Amino acid sequence: MNAILVASNRGPVSFTLSEGGSLSMRRGGGGLVSGLSEVAKDLGALWVCAALSDGDRGAVRLAPGGRLDQAGYDTGALRMLDIPPATFHRAYNAVANSTLWFVHHLLYDTPNRPHFDARFRREWESYQAYNEAFAMALAEEAPHGARVMVQDYHLSLVPAMLRGERPDLRVAHFSHTPWAPPEYFSLLPDDVAAEVLEGILGADHAGFLTARWGGAFMDCCETVLGARVERASRTVTHEGRTIRIGTHSLGVDGKALWARASEPDVESHMAALRAQVGDRRLIVRIDRTELSKNIVRGLAAYREFLSAHPEWHGRVTHLAFAYPSRHDLPEYREYTAAVQRCAKEIEDEYATEDWDPLILNVDDDYPRSLAAYRLADVLLVNPIRDGMNLVAKEGPILSPGSALVLSREAGAAAELGEHAVTVNPYDVSATAAALHEGLTMPEAERARRGALLAGAATALPPHRWFAEQLDALG
Ligand code: G6P
Repeated sequence: MNAILVASNRGPVSFTLSEGGSLSMRRGGGGLVSGLSEVAKDLGALWVCAALSDGDRGAVRLAPGGRLDQAGYDTGALRMLDIPPATFHRAYNAVANSTLWFVHHLLYDTPNRPHFDARFRREWESYQAYNEAFAMALAEEAPHGARVMVQDYHLSLVPAMLRGERPDLRVAHFSHTPWAPPEYFSLLPDDVAAEVLEGILGADHAGFLTARWGGAFMDCCETVLGARVERASRTVTHEGRTIRIGTHSLGVDGKALWARASEPDVESHMAALRAQVGDRRLIVRIDRTELSKNIVRGLAAYREFLSAHPEWHGRVTHLAFAYPSRHDLPEYREYTAAVQRCAKEIEDEYATEDWDPLILNVDDDYPRSLAAYRLADVLLVNPIRDGMNLVAKEGPILSPGSALVLSREAGAAAELGEHAVTVNPYDVSATAAALHEGLTMPEAERARRGALLAGAATALPPHRWFAEQLDALG
């Protein structure tokens, strides 16, 4: 039996169904999954996740009790939940990604949205049902006294539901996102706001990526629930139980990253990119095409930099990798179009026969991204708001001589800000100036800062990050 369980919406693998009806499996993407996959396997943890696609559903339906490992897949212990598609869609798209994600990243255009009406109530019921399905599966699978590690905003109700079923378990919840300040969190309907907080408070330990996000969570508990908050000991007491609030700043396994980035596929992408851009200096960004990543203002800043510094024309190229994400949401499709429009404007204004000022790449190509990191002179990471941002941590490892332009609103700024060129992500002109500062920073200074950045980025690699949270459960 497994003494450690992990629960997250997205699991370590995904399946695609070919036209002929055969299934192929690939590793899942995203920061959460890449960090957790190795750890879960090494610890022999049972992972519970949701089926996200028709391919996933096809695979689950053939697996005994949804256990893909028992159906012969090399996944590590894995149970995938076949939640009815309409319920899943409302929970994942409408509540998790269009509501909770928007709240925590401050993404609403408030004159128009949010708009919590009767339809939202149905969506919220689906979110409850989806959380319930996870809680029930975990209750069924967990041996007595097991530790259960619940991940992220998709599953904020699970800890309280699980405690109701199985008070013998020790439960941790971890937020991979920022947490909203109380005045913004209170956009949520009052009962929903309370349910989210009380859901997480059902855990024994609530973990966050930075002290700032954990602090915002405590502020919300105090304001919305009237809970007793001890800021020095970082505890919240509510309805007779005391929950510890932990800070666990997920970092990167530098050795493993270097090993992957030294493989031949990455080297050949490096050669191809070099051939394409010549010896020009490179400003690199790598993101999901995600509203919170602030890609449009990043491009606008590059444009302003080109306009203010004609001496760089022909001598610099911006490699912007923005791979597809959450395309079921109209806001994301519109945003992707806005990124493409903005890129085209820069091309139209500045490109010459022998100079491409900007290369925008919208395919998900991991080895190519690793190649771009290795070639970067300046890495641009300018999110509106971000739980951590692992790009900011991976870059300095793979390109120790590059300068990092970093938003002060990224969680990573707490550890890296001192050695980066930090920016207010809304200030396009300041971001343009920061790009110039990064490009003109003397080599010795870039190397000095690079070493400090890489040290901070590897301070808490995934194995230790996870072990800290297990220890916190006793
Ligand atoms: C963020 C979330 C993760 C999520 C990832 C990718 O990093 O914190 O939980 O997996 O985005 O998003 P997706 O919706 O594609 O799983």
